[in-house]
Amino acid sequence: MYNERGMSQPPLVVSVVGNRPQFVKLAPVSRALRGSLREAIVHTEQHYDPSMAGVFFGDLSIPAPDHLLGVRSGSHAEQTARTLLALEPLLVQLSPAAVLVFGDTNATLAATIAAVKLHLPVVHVEAGPRLYDGFASPEEANRVATDHLSTLLLAPTEHAAANLAREGLGDRTVMTGDPMYDVYLASLPQAEATRPWEALDLPRGDYVLLTLHRPANVDDPAQLATLVRAVRAGGLPVIFPVHPRTRRVAEAAGIALERQAGFFPIEPVGYLAMVALERSAEVVVTDSGGVQKEAFFSEVPCINLANRSAWPETVEAGWNVAIGHDPGRITEAIRSFRPRGAQPRLFGEGHAADAIAEAIRHLVAG
Ligand code: UD1
Ligand code: UDP
Repeated sequence: MYNERGMSQPPLVVSVVGNRPQFVKLAPVSRALRGSLREAIVHTEQHYDPSMAGVFFGDLSIPAPDHLLGVRSGSHAEQTARTLLALEPLLVQLSPAAVLVFGDTNATLAATIAAVKLHLPVVHVEAGPRLYDGFASPEEANRVATDHLSTLLLAPTEHAAANLAREGLGDRTVMTGDPMYDVYLASLPQAEATRPWEALDLPRGDYVLLTLHRPANVDDPAQLATLVRAVRAGGLPVIFPVHPRTRRVAEAAGIALERQAGFFPIEPVGYLAMVALERSAEVVVTDSGGVQKEAFFSEVPCINLANRSAWPETVEAGWNVAIGHDPGRITEAIRSFRPRGAQPRLFGEGHAADAIAEAIRHLVAG
């Protein structure tokens, strides 16, 4: 590749993101890539509220997206199809040496399909986690399809790499560690300065941090109300940054998500404030994949409102419990699940983004 002066330029990599957890994963990877490659960031805008998207670019100093696709909300087919239609001509125009996709959302799957049909190498960051839930969750379909269509699979943990090997994908896999651990470590000083509990007149600690957004937990208002009641019955103040999917269901069903004694439903917070809330919580209750990992990084007990975890290594290590939906068990776990003791290093040493950039340089050098 040559610029207008005829000088050779580093190869171009296109990073495609669109959802809150992908901005977090992109931040350290983008920084590491730009040392030796050119990068264009494409934001599909599956997430678009400032609190779900823009705040992450600011908090994590991610370069502004080069291209916005305007995909926004809709059914799975609508989001996937709109991404495909917008991305295909852009990839033809940019003709990158590789396309980077992250995690397991509709943006991930659509970018993978668009790229592979154009014979562009696809690199999957966070390849290999599995629920083996018979595709009950939309993410599982996105993960499996993306992994099997990708050229290079970057596994965050040994467990994820083993899943890929079992599926016959071992020769495309590099175990890099998890860039979410890199960005977590790098953000600690700034996160510590945010002190978000002060705005709620709460002391640091002694609260439950709750997040909920899985369709299986929130799309049925009765289920959502039961889960929130069970968490509140644990007897600790509950700080609950409410995902817009959850807010929409609650509002439509008349479920009160207003501040009451000991209950603090708030708008989604930025990454730095979220890390601060996680680190100071007595216990984290969540259905988020990323929040389960960050609770582990923070050495805070995690109660996962599902029957299985995409991060079973954190369960095996004793710091996460996949509790399911039984209200009595949830309340009891909030009162009594207090693991202690040393943690194994499951997610690398905080240098995953460098390993990812190195693997991509190797790929595009041919
Ligand atoms: C998506 C991902 C999920 C990921 C989650 C991270 C898929 C299939 N799902 O789920 O894997 O864990 O992001 O948060 O890709 N909304 C807004 N403003 C926004 C974004 C969403 O109001 O900026 C509302 C809309 O009503 C929308 C709903 O939230 O219909 C759901 O958003 P969507 O992106 O479809 O799925 P998520 O539940 O966010
Ligand atoms: N997060 C955040 N603010 C919030 C909730 C989550 O910054 O109010 C961050 C969280 O710290 C993690 C990521 O968003 O880095 C996880 O995203 P989410 O739970 O939406 O998706 P998942 O990880 O389940 O795909």
